[in-house]
Amino acid sequence: MDFEISTEEFQQFRTLIYEESGISLNDQKQGLVASRLSKRLRELGLSTFSDYYEQLTRDPSQEEFTRMLDLISTNKTDFFREPKHFDFLREEILPQLREEKRIRIWSSACSTGEEPYTIAMTLYDGLSDPAQWDCKILASDLSTRVLAKAAAGVYDAERVQGVPLETVRRHFLRGRGASEHQLKVKPHLSAMIQFRRLNLMDEQFPIKSPLDLIFCRNVMIYFDRPTQERLVNKFYRYLKPGGCLFIGHSESLQWVEHSFTSLAPTIYQKKA
Ligand SMILES: C[S@@+](CC[C@H](N)C(=O)[O-])C[C@H]1O[C@@H](n2cnc3c(N)ncnc32)[C@H](O)[C@@H]1O
Repeated sequence: MDFEISTEEFQQFRTLIYEESGISLNDQKQGLVASRLSKRLRELGLSTFSDYYEQLTRDPSQEEFTRMLDLISTNKTDFFREPKHFDFLREEILPQLREEKRIRIWSSACSTGEEPYTIAMTLYDGLSDPAQWDCKILASDLSTRVLAKAAAGVYDAERVQGVPLETVRRHFLRGRGASEHQLKVKPHLSAMIQFRRLNLMDEQFPIKSPLDLIFCRNVMIYFDRPTQERLVNKFYRYLKPGGCLFIGHSESLQWVEHSFTSLAPTIYQKKA
């Protein structure tokens, strides 16, 4: 049974979630908030949303806030999700960097890691001499829970069902005994990736050298237009001239003011 959430309580949660994560919940989401958070209230022995709000806002570590956000937001992701972006990386981007042999990529809402590992597989398989290249992928998310899973790099075998068997063999180790249904990402992929908790709402990011690519897929859909606009313009600053931003296939920058050139649907380039 769900606990009752008053409109006032819903407004408190809505404001907190928006201010801390940029996620914008409309009036229709009142029931969703109640149903997704009721179990957590019960676990904590609380009986009102006001008590839970008190607890959340009193916790300086933000641990409970992260937990709450995990319940509200979706972490859905997949290996090779929206594969055109990885084809573009292999066919268009890598040939341009063949001389330099250096690439810097940010997977900025990486969830449980399938996106950055897919990028790493694409680099490894798309380069004839991967050992000669300097490839670095920053993979970040707001949620420490998904980041811990991403950094562990261990997945149930069914998560790679759509990936060609040869690719799986090249990049994953199969568990033994009780873990035989699990796969672990091989070190040649993990070595390219640094995982870090970053909030896309931050004014600045700890990124020193300009980036070739930013992946920001399937998160902006939860942000309102002003938030999307601020974020896209921040991304612009962190890209090299000629660098690209990839957004999710159901997202668009059509209503957002920005300085990117549209290269293909959902692929945007900073002017060279
Ligand atoms: C649906 S997943 C997208 C995963 C991956 N990019 C993909 O397309 O498959 C959205 C992720 O955005 C993260 N997220 C939500 N708000 C965020 C914020 N303000 N800063 C960073 N990450 C955020 C969530 O924790 C979640 O893991």
